[in-house]
Amino acid sequence: MPDSRADAEAMRKAITPNTILMVGSAPSYPHGVVDPIAEMAKIAKQNNILFHVDACVGGFMLPFVRKLGYPIPDFDLSVSGVTSISADLHKYGYAAKGASVILYKTPELRRHQMFVSTNWAGGIYPSLSMAGTRPASPIAAAWAVLNYLGEAGYLELNDAVMKAVKRLQNGINAIQGIKVISNPEMSVFAIGSDELDVYAIADKLTQKGWHLDRQQFPPSLHMTVQYGHVNIVDEFLSDLAESVKDVRKPSIEKTFNAWLVAIANFLIRILPEAWVTALMEKASGLLGGGGGLPSKMAPMYGLMGSLPNRGDLKEMILDLLDGMTRYKK
Ligand SMILES: Cc1ncc(COP(=O)(O)O)c(C=O)c1O
Repeated sequence: MPDSRADAEAMRKAITPNTILMVGSAPSYPHGVVDPIAEMAKIAKQNNILFHVDACVGGFMLPFVRKLGYPIPDFDLSVSGVTSISADLHKYGYAAKGASVILYKTPELRRHQMFVSTNWAGGIYPSLSMAGTRPASPIAAAWAVLNYLGEAGYLELNDAVMKAVKRLQNGINAIQGIKVISNPEMSVFAIGSDELDVYAIADKLTQKGWHLDRQQFPPSLHMTVQYGHVNIVDEFLSDLAESVKDVRKPSIEKTFNAWLVAIANFLIRILPEAWVTALMEKASGLLGGGGGLPSKMAPMYGLMGSLPNRGDLKEMILDLLDGMTRYKK
């Protein structure tokens, strides 16, 4: 949908007799917007299929943000038709990675998650999760954090975070040429532009020590604001404004980047696959990567975004992963 939310009607039309589950985001990671969960869950219920809410990002934020008075649409197990919901403790739960939460509407549904084998020579084998062997320490640590912060703690943290978010979003929207995409409910959002190369803005920010994820469809920069960011709002906005100003200026660098993208795009259409991978490695070196990640990503992202065949891109990424994890003598 134009507001970056899932299209419930398109999902209704996509249901076939083989469909067993629908999924909505609360909120989605790229743009931080909450899908029309109630509308989607109603469709799932009418079709007698399960409906999962991915609240990995929002599960430990949205309930508190709502309590603080911000408008949050219904998204949880109280919505008719929602049958399960996930929430990540290592995100806005402020716990370490390694423990997460999934909740089911009924005990009957939860039983399907469990695995039991009674016919194994090694004995009776039960497991609560996909991974049979799991460390208990991250779960205990997350439990400790949850109890340490408590409801009052989460309200306090999220109050500060939401105030920082509003200042950031107002500041970003006040910079000519860039804007916050859609109207995200909480503290995850994306910066886009109708006229400037956001990847070039990201490169300028990188040089100033800020690292924002580059996103695609449309090109945008990702922000996850949490408590650690509360005191850096003014500094960030000032560096962002300066970066945007720099990107507006005509420069040799920009012309060089545009040429690089155009040449690589042309070559990719006519070269064999292995050559394309070699070319990407060379391009990365040319941009200051020295074998690792290039220091200037804008031309790289410009190129990837305009590749005629996404399959080529997937092969390149597989080559990259393969190279990173291959034993070299
Ligand atoms: C929206 C969303 N869903 C799910 C996940 C969890 O994915 P995983 O635990 O498999 O890394 C993430 C991020 O980690 C996320 O941002």
